[in-house]
Amino acid sequence: MELPIFYDEAELWNNTLLLYDSALREINTKLEILNNEFKLAHQYNPIEHITSRIKSSESIAKKIRHNNRELKVENIIKYVNDVAGIRIICSFTSDIYRIADLIAKQSDVKVLKVKDYIMCPKENGYSSYHMIVSVPIYLSNQVIDTKVEIQIRTIAMDFWASLEHKIYYKFEGNAPEHIRAELKECAEIVGYLDKKMLSLNEEIKNYSHCEVQ
Ligand code: GTP
Ligand code: MG
Repeated sequence: MELPIFYDEAELWNNTLLLYDSALREINTKLEILNNEFKLAHQYNPIEHITSRIKSSESIAKKIRHNNRELKVENIIKYVNDVAGIRIICSFTSDIYRIADLIAKQSDVKVLKVKDYIMCPKENGYSSYHMIVSVPIYLSNQVIDTKVEIQIRTIAMDFWASLEHKIYYKFEGNAPEHIRAELKECAEIVGYLDKKMLSLNEEIKNYSHCEVQ
């Protein structure tokens, strides 16, 4: 991201926040359009729901400190990829890849990084599809590419991630071994459930409306 020139760090930060907020709006609109188009063509929503957030200043500062960098706007823009974050919750795993592909194909979106924790879940069992993208934000006298972190997961993956997050914070990252083992087992059940639900959904597509009744 090229920096607009401001002499005051606070002014620069306010203008940077405006960029992140605008980038979230851009991606949200793109997703809404894709979802509506899909609904029209296939009579169902690939997206269950979307949440978005701007990272809190405390979390940004913590991340910058954790990386041993000076807390400057320039460093935040360069090193914190998730200042603007969007989470897309889908019903089926196939929808995740469909949405990811449709986002990546848009000519104004640049995909900077992809992490497929569905193909390769994390050691703790975490599963989700992550993209860091940038979108151009058109200001009055310049265009600034702005980064957004997109997390795409199924309802079941989201259910698991919420509980894992809660447990992680409760035990400050040191949950007892049996809890970690049970969480991992739950992650395997989530994977199994997602596969079962997808194949069931595929199967019912072959039935006509009256056959289902
Ligand atoms: P940060 O974790 O944001 O510092 O970046 P990273 O480079 O490790 O990126 P990654 O794509 O692995 O994770 C980005 C985000 O995904 C995190 O900030 C969390 O919101 C989510 N995430 C990653 N791993 C886990 C996990 O094990 N459990 C849960 N609940 N969420 C996770
Ligand atoms: Mg994060």
